[in-house]
Amino acid sequence: MDTMIAVQDASVSGQWFTAIILSLCCFLPSCLPAGQTVDYPWLGMERVVSRQGDTALLRCYLLDGFSKGAWLNRSSIIFAGDDKWSVDPRVSIVSGVGDKHEYSLQIQKVDVTDDGQYTCSVQSERNPRSKLIHLTVKVPPKIYDISTDITINEGSNISLICMASGKPDPTISWRHITPLAKKYESGEYLMINGINRDQAGDYECSAQNDISYPDTKTVKVTVNFAPEIREMKSAREGRGRTALLRCEAAAVPTPIFEWYKGDKKLTKGQGIEIKNLSSRSILSMTNMTEDGYGNYTCVAANKLGKANASMPLIPIIEPTTTSPVSSPDQSGLTSTPTVGPSAPNTAPYGTTGNAEVLSSCQYLVLALTSFISVY
Ligand SMILES: *[C@@H]1O[C@H](CO)[C@@H](O)[C@H](O)[C@H]1NC(C)=O
Ligand SMILES: *[C@@H]1O[C@H](CO)[C@@H](O)[C@H](O)[C@H]1NC(C)=O
Ligand SMILES: *[C@@H]1O[C@H](CO)[C@@H](O)[C@H](O)[C@H]1NC(C)=O
Ligand SMILES: *[C@@H]1O[C@H](CO)[C@@H](O)[C@H](O)[C@H]1NC(C)=O
Ligand SMILES: *[C@@H]1O[C@H](CO)[C@@H](O)[C@H](O)[C@H]1NC(C)=O
Ligand SMILES: *[C@@H]1O[C@H](CO)[C@@H](O)[C@H](O)[C@H]1NC(C)=O
Repeated sequence: MDTMIAVQDASVSGQWFTAIILSLCCFLPSCLPAGQTVDYPWLGMERVVSRQGDTALLRCYLLDGFSKGAWLNRSSIIFAGDDKWSVDPRVSIVSGVGDKHEYSLQIQKVDVTDDGQYTCSVQSERNPRSKLIHLTVKVPPKIYDISTDITINEGSNISLICMASGKPDPTISWRHITPLAKKYESGEYLMINGINRDQAGDYECSAQNDISYPDTKTVKVTVNFAPEIREMKSAREGRGRTALLRCEAAAVPTPIFEWYKGDKKLTKGQGIEIKNLSSRSILSMTNMTEDGYGNYTCVAANKLGKANASMPLIPIIEPTTTSPVSSPDQSGLTSTPTVGPSAPNTAPYGTTGNAEVLSSCQYLVLALTSFISVY
């Protein structure tokens, strides 16, 4: 603090010397004045940084009890001695009669309009002088406009916008919220040409400056695409038992499923049950009879298109002639279900093919999983 006063007292010729002392001294943390105040001794100006809404304190000392002080905001007088000239209720003098005779200016709830140069003018007979203080008011980033959630078709071009205020101007960046969290180039606009389904999801806009935490907001991007059948499987059963067919499709919006046996559309009833679980559909048929076996087709459709896959359901030969158990749960667990790999795949999307590489142990697991997922 003593060096600070020295700066204030420095005549023009002495200023360089003081500046050197001060800059050396400033490597010691205790030398720096409190908080957000930074000295620029070479300019003879002090800089105070304050956050919008906070209380700023601009320090000044009279050094003796006989001097008089005044505070100016640019060229208008705020205080002359103890007389308040300003009508602004936020400003007041912090005074103290220590050995330094404090005469500091306090501004409550600072705003960006307070940003600028303030002068503490000290009138004394021996050395009248002025201290210049530049008040910088910083504003935390705030996103004030962002694109609304959008739904588009795969292959479309999208352009998202995010606008933020703050001082200094915030840097805006975009991030796709996925495990990979892909970052995009900084900027208010995010453009994606020919968007694909993997690029669907939440996009986070983040506005950042050096004054506080970034402000973030997200936009949800829904990418519609026509169904694709991912997998079609069966858990085959002997006559009298329950057979299951599972069809899995990728589609946005959620597809509607239909089942056909040959050309005949299947509906609920007479032992036939259809369960739709968003991306998959399960067809179960209790008490399989001879005419239950044959070629089954699963059709998944949404407003963008349709896809289908077919597979034959072939009876398995019961190893023993014990009486059939009609409970579907038990049959699922006690029999040796096999999952359609031997069936020729006539689906246009070739979706059952990869089952062939699995070992028979895995078939069992898969079949059990399909049973578990049904019930
Ligand atoms: C300083 O002056 C500016 C512009 O004249 C004014 O908007 C602001 O409120 C003043 N601030 C204080 C603390 O007097
Ligand atoms: C998407 O952007 C590309 C490149 O700017 C342009 O060639 C294409 O026509 C645009 N597609 C649509 C559907 O607007
Ligand atoms: C499943 O989809 C089929 C075909 O659209 C429909 O007839 C059936 O009612 C649906 N079932 C359920 C449980 O949503
Ligand atoms: C299964 O079907 C056969 C032949 O149609 C019938 O005799 C039998 O009662 C059925 N069993 C059950 C449990 O529905
Ligand atoms: C099964 O049905 C589909 C659709 O009706 C057909 O394209 C396919 O050839 C049939 N497959 C067999 C083996 O009959
Ligand atoms: C299945 O897809 C093929 C080829 O896309 C089409 O010709 C056929 O009509 C479809 N079958 C059904 C039952 O929708």
